[in-house]
Amino acid sequence: MKNTKLIATAMFLMAVFCITATAQVDEKKMNRFIDKLMSQMTLQEKIGQLNLVEGEDVVSGGKEKAAYVQMVKDGMAGAMLDIMDVRKIYAVQRMAVEESRLHIPLFFGLDVIHGYSTVFPIPLGLSCSWDTAAIERSARIAATEATAEGLCWNFSPMVDICHDARWGRIAEGAGEDPYLGSKVAAALVRGYQGNDLSAGNTMMACVKHFAMYGASDGGQDYNAADMSRWRMYNEYLPPYKAAIDAGAFSVMSSFNIVDGIPATANRWLLTDLLRKEWGFRGFVVSDYESITDMTNHSIGDSLDCATASLNAGLDLDMCSYVYIRKAEQLLREGRITMKTIDQSVRRILEAKYRLGLFDDPYRYCRDTLRRDSIILCPDHRAEARRIAAETFVLLKNDNNILPLRRHGKIALIGPMANDRLNLSGTWSWCAQPDRYLTLLEGLRRAVGDSAEVLYARGCNLMYDAQMEDRMVRRKKMRDPRPDDQLLREALAVAAKADVIVVAVGECAEMSGEAASRVNLELPDAQRDMLQALKRTGKPIVMLNFSGRPVILNWENENLDAILQVWFAGSETADAIADVLFGKMSPSGKLTTTFPYHVGQYPMTYARFASGRPMGETFQRFKTNYLDVPVEGLFPFGYGLSYTQFDYSPITLSDTLLDSHSTITASVTVTNSGNCDADEIVQLYLRDNSGSVVRPIKELKGFQRITLKKGESRRVEFLIDEPMLRFYNAQLQHVSEPGTFTLMIGPNSRDVQSLTFTLR
Ligand code: NOJ
Repeated sequence: MKNTKLIATAMFLMAVFCITATAQVDEKKMNRFIDKLMSQMTLQEKIGQLNLVEGEDVVSGGKEKAAYVQMVKDGMAGAMLDIMDVRKIYAVQRMAVEESRLHIPLFFGLDVIHGYSTVFPIPLGLSCSWDTAAIERSARIAATEATAEGLCWNFSPMVDICHDARWGRIAEGAGEDPYLGSKVAAALVRGYQGNDLSAGNTMMACVKHFAMYGASDGGQDYNAADMSRWRMYNEYLPPYKAAIDAGAFSVMSSFNIVDGIPATANRWLLTDLLRKEWGFRGFVVSDYESITDMTNHSIGDSLDCATASLNAGLDLDMCSYVYIRKAEQLLREGRITMKTIDQSVRRILEAKYRLGLFDDPYRYCRDTLRRDSIILCPDHRAEARRIAAETFVLLKNDNNILPLRRHGKIALIGPMANDRLNLSGTWSWCAQPDRYLTLLEGLRRAVGDSAEVLYARGCNLMYDAQMEDRMVRRKKMRDPRPDDQLLREALAVAAKADVIVVAVGECAEMSGEAASRVNLELPDAQRDMLQALKRTGKPIVMLNFSGRPVILNWENENLDAILQVWFAGSETADAIADVLFGKMSPSGKLTTTFPYHVGQYPMTYARFASGRPMGETFQRFKTNYLDVPVEGLFPFGYGLSYTQFDYSPITLSDTLLDSHSTITASVTVTNSGNCDADEIVQLYLRDNSGSVVRPIKELKGFQRITLKKGESRRVEFLIDEPMLRFYNAQLQHVSEPGTFTLMIGPNSRDVQSLTFTLR
């Protein structure tokens, strides 16, 4: 026994040693290797490294297949995206390695945004767990599955801050707050990249979309974003920087303009800020065809676009094929220099070196059987189920109608109730819906023989079939039966039930890329169905599926309970059952405000202090609206539980702080309700005086704690001077002496506060 223990310890130490030994790349050795390789490369071979090629055509026999295959064989491709099959990746890698003159391997990328085939909740949902350790584990699992499929580069994390849910891509990020967004960004990078990029089961992260993509005018995708540098630095840039500080080795430029110049060709952004100010050492890839898209921005023809991108510091061309076609000419004409090309080539080769591809080009794809035991394995699915349940946000629960008891008759009604395709949400290319349960199947399994789950679809997503067709491209779910027949069926089912659970909201493709919408209320057919169900007088629990905050005024006034479930991934059905029937208490908290009206956008809880702030009650000539409140219906940080948490008054260890000292702020949180549950305790600060106007509150800390029924815990936050820094008008990151209000609470609205002074 003792011996076994000793051997295990020795093996563990050896493993740790091996990891740390390989984690650090020997830079000198790497540089020597790359110098030598580059000295053998022709100009065209160098430019080839800057060419990211579409793999879908190659594997599906698309019209460009022959051209792309030739590029690979000629050494005119540096990397490939969108192949989701390890055997096909292996075949393409063989072409690159065995048929190209210098045998340089490719790296293979994909959008593995929230899991591979074990699908986690969409990122906006994930962020609502505020559980950075779990988020990191989700990324680790995503990387484990994706690398078993031969991939080694992930177009994630997407860290764009968004204050406007008309933008469909709010689904892909961590919501509205730069502090939480930074924590999530770093967790995802750690999860994907691990300690060692060359480990074979880790993958290179790509931070996107650099930058300010989430601030597009009017919430329209690909639209202009424009803001002061001051706002950029304080609100929008921190998560990108956090991801880079966490070691992300690649960055994707965004489609939008920044200061009037497309990000794809913005030298200030891609070189001055990213490299010189932040010290980024990896490479920058364009977004899909975004270099040639710039002809539509009217910055010139494709030659002008390629010139501008290369000179701005954009290394790898995603599918515009303009570097490969034009860079040589640009060099001849003196519009770019050899130094610029060499610099970009070196960055791409460095990435390959760090991924271990020069040691073994087949590192990620040699073993084509590994995926069978890894992808969707029980451990991954169990983790996804646990995490999914943590992301649900309980918005309302009158008379503690939830959790439901497992008896009697439960009517499950709505377009999402028996659908399999949409559960994984946006960006889930590798989902395997056939292996996921529908909600109906999950609930039936959960109740077994002790209750009956009746089902009716009730309605389509919306009445207008043409509009639905526009919104739903791949995951079609329309029921051809007439609307009144669907509704009658639902009412008949509801009549037999003790409680009605409705599964309604958006379908997967109503949010995500190119899914901007202005009408964020429940679509007409679903609303009418809810109103009809309401007239039955039965209690109604709403499960709201959506990739964004939606408007829930009527639902909040009329329904008994609302659980926001986002798109929770492959384990949606089990996770919802766990929460509905009380195996787990809901613990998610909103990371994006739910407004009363879409006209409130753009909005954030962290609004700048106005000269005419709105008071407790409505007054004219204040910063407000005549017709809706200033704040949202459900504030940032909000989410209920099945239990009750009581917060003691805050205590501060001191009320004076200087640059050498710290203050401890503490509260005691007590679970005074009837079940064990998690709570997310939140710390906000307000800077009360300064050279520039500061937000009325900003998240500066949080802790997710588990409390057993009846248990109390003292929660402490350490306050120090760096926490109080912000970017001033000169963009210096400073703190300024004065008083600060410290707030602690269960959400951004319901806080207690105290003040302290920074000397
Ligand atoms: C376009 C999207 O904007 C980006 O997020 C994605 O990574 C690329 N396409 C590649 O699929």
